[in-house]
Amino acid sequence: MSQHRVIIDCDPGHDDFAAIALAAQSKSIQIEAIIAVNGNAPLSHTVRNALSIAAALDLDCPVHAGAELPFLHRYAYPTEFHGETGLDSSGAMLPNHDRGAEQRHGALEIIQRVRAAPGEITIVALGPMTDIALALTLDPGIAPLVREIVFMGGALSGGNVTSQAEFNIWADPHAAAIVLAAGVRTTMFGLDVTNRAWLTMDELASLREGVDTPNPLADILQFYAEGSGDVRAGRTPGPALHDPCPIAWLIQPELFEVEALPVSVCCTTGDHFGTTYSDRRAWRDEAAPTISVATGIDRDGFAGLLTPALHMAAKQIAEKTQLPCTQSNGG
Ligand code: RIB
Ligand code: CA
Repeated sequence: MSQHRVIIDCDPGHDDFAAIALAAQSKSIQIEAIIAVNGNAPLSHTVRNALSIAAALDLDCPVHAGAELPFLHRYAYPTEFHGETGLDSSGAMLPNHDRGAEQRHGALEIIQRVRAAPGEITIVALGPMTDIALALTLDPGIAPLVREIVFMGGALSGGNVTSQAEFNIWADPHAAAIVLAAGVRTTMFGLDVTNRAWLTMDELASLREGVDTPNPLADILQFYAEGSGDVRAGRTPGPALHDPCPIAWLIQPELFEVEALPVSVCCTTGDHFGTTYSDRRAWRDEAAPTISVATGIDRDGFAGLLTPALHMAAKQIAEKTQLPCTQSNGG
């Protein structure tokens, strides 16, 4: 029996793809459902990408469409990182398939699955947390029934979409505030650790060893590496793969250091909009509710877990990809 029954709510998204591939390869994770949410790209794109990823990885879990828009914030999509499709490639695209999304809205699917298995379901949020906030608002009674919420988002210091704010939280800070206030056991993977969760260019190149071409997974991650500002500036030896961090923690928690900290989010328009705040003073208010925040990562250990999983996935997908790279991402 898998140790972790997870619902993955994501906005694929290159690093979302890597996270799903890692989860799919792990014997300690059972993916119960994938929910695509508006985030890196419009919902139509993230749903299409999630279906392509699920089909390419032979996942038998359902894919649901989640929220089409954040609660209040409206923004331009970060095409510079994920391209117009949200999963652009430097070469081959994922193979065509005939899968479709389920009828039920992703937020309702969360409610249904959590109520069907009280204390069993871990929600992994890899994009804006709109669906999780919707589920907790439509049915607040599920809060004590969720095993845990594990999310990639926020930062104790420094942002990526603004100088202070991280994209997933900034895209829907009102949703993040609802989730953080819900009292669910929560673990946060912010930029403090995910910016250090890079794969080197050599580790990415290894995804091509012994794999037939076309190799969509390697080509898709190559596009992501080419769009990394940190790689271009020589600050990191490869692109940060943010979203696999929560999945890696579920599989090998010893790869991360975590700290119990109070975390809040700024929902006020202005320079700090979407910023997450904490308080690490020894004399802080002990009564303030806390969540578990990742503050350290064993980067080599993370790469040692992720690279073989991506290599297996690359092989699996390449075997399906018979036609040249003119194919679209699932139509
Ligand atoms: O800030 C990183 C996060 O924003 C990741 O989830 C990435 O996929 C983008 O959505
Ligand atoms: Ca994401």
